[in-house]
Amino acid sequence: MVWAVACVLAAALHAAGASCISGDACDGGENAAMLQGHRQRVAPQSVLSTAKVNRTRRGHTAFKKGLAALQTSQSSSAFQINEDGVWNTYFLPGASITDQRTLEYGINDKYFLMKYDTADSCTAGNFEMLQLAGKTFSATVYLNGAGCGCNVNFFLVAMPASSPGEFGDCYCDANCVGGNCCNEFDLNEMNTHALQVTNHLCGDPASHETCDGNGSPVMKFSPALFGPGNANTIDTEHPFNYSVQFRETDSESVLVTVQQGEKVISNTMANSALSSMWPQLSSGMVLVFDYWESSDMTWLDGASCQAPSYCSGNKAQVSNVHITTNALNA
Ligand SMILES: *[C@@H]1O[C@H](CO)[C@@H](O)[C@H](O)[C@H]1NC(C)=O
Ligand SMILES: *[C@@H]1O[C@H](CO)[C@@H](O)[C@H](O)[C@H]1NC(C)=O
Repeated sequence: MVWAVACVLAAALHAAGASCISGDACDGGENAAMLQGHRQRVAPQSVLSTAKVNRTRRGHTAFKKGLAALQTSQSSSAFQINEDGVWNTYFLPGASITDQRTLEYGINDKYFLMKYDTADSCTAGNFEMLQLAGKTFSATVYLNGAGCGCNVNFFLVAMPASSPGEFGDCYCDANCVGGNCCNEFDLNEMNTHALQVTNHLCGDPASHETCDGNGSPVMKFSPALFGPGNANTIDTEHPFNYSVQFRETDSESVLVTVQQGEKVISNTMANSALSSMWPQLSSGMVLVFDYWESSDMTWLDGASCQAPSYCSGNKAQVSNVHITTNALNA
């Protein structure tokens, strides 16, 4: 994500952070959620009702859902990923998921793939760390009309940060949104007009100075390969299958394939920055699903959108997530 855009995301996260009742930073952890619960009881009624509305608008419902999960061993935030033929159950706390395999998300939603149904994003052991080197990540995507100005995405980051950032969670990325910097690989940022895949490498230690906020390498698809309507090879008004393959047989490269019925578009990318990301991709990264808007998303969709444009907010769906070892697929 470019810097200007990161600010919009920051603003969105900030709005979400407003659900903390006191002026204290909220750390997003269960303890903090409990504290918030205590504060609620002594809060004036007007604050109480607003806080409830705010909390249901974003991922802060996770704590309550976590409790329910403990009581029933069932959770609406359970999310299954098929790994080499086996459906394993993880969690996207706070998310709206149907049949445990379809995530539906809209503007300002942001979910982390967790081992447990917890809102604590500061404990490394809570995350499912995906190790995608030598593997292929694939999913079915339905953008449902999320057009110009929308950024529907899923990506990998080297979470958690060692301490909570500006927005109270341990989120980090290569643009240091929230104040914490870390390696980031964008599996996909998209709307109906464009799709971009970006490697964002950071040096050690990760910082504003050592992280590549613009990204390299970058791959992009836009009309007439990828766009709304059947004049495009991939008609983004309908679902398509999307895959990112992390190949390491000769040298490191990434193959991206978009498939819709018999139509297929694909491209590969490789450079030294991608090779330098490989140890991180091997050791593990956190999967994040996110959706944000900007009136100027032309760095992504400028081939067919003009600023200002306003994201429709149509909820997108990602389903049928598979992770397959390349060698088993060959
Ligand atoms: C809830 O959100 C609204 C709009 O973002 C904000 O004005 C209000 O202060 C928030 N309330 C609380 C209690 O955080
Ligand atoms: C996506 O892949 C699945 C499994 O191969 C296939 O059944 C489905 O038709 C594909 N969807 C599209 C839109 O091509």
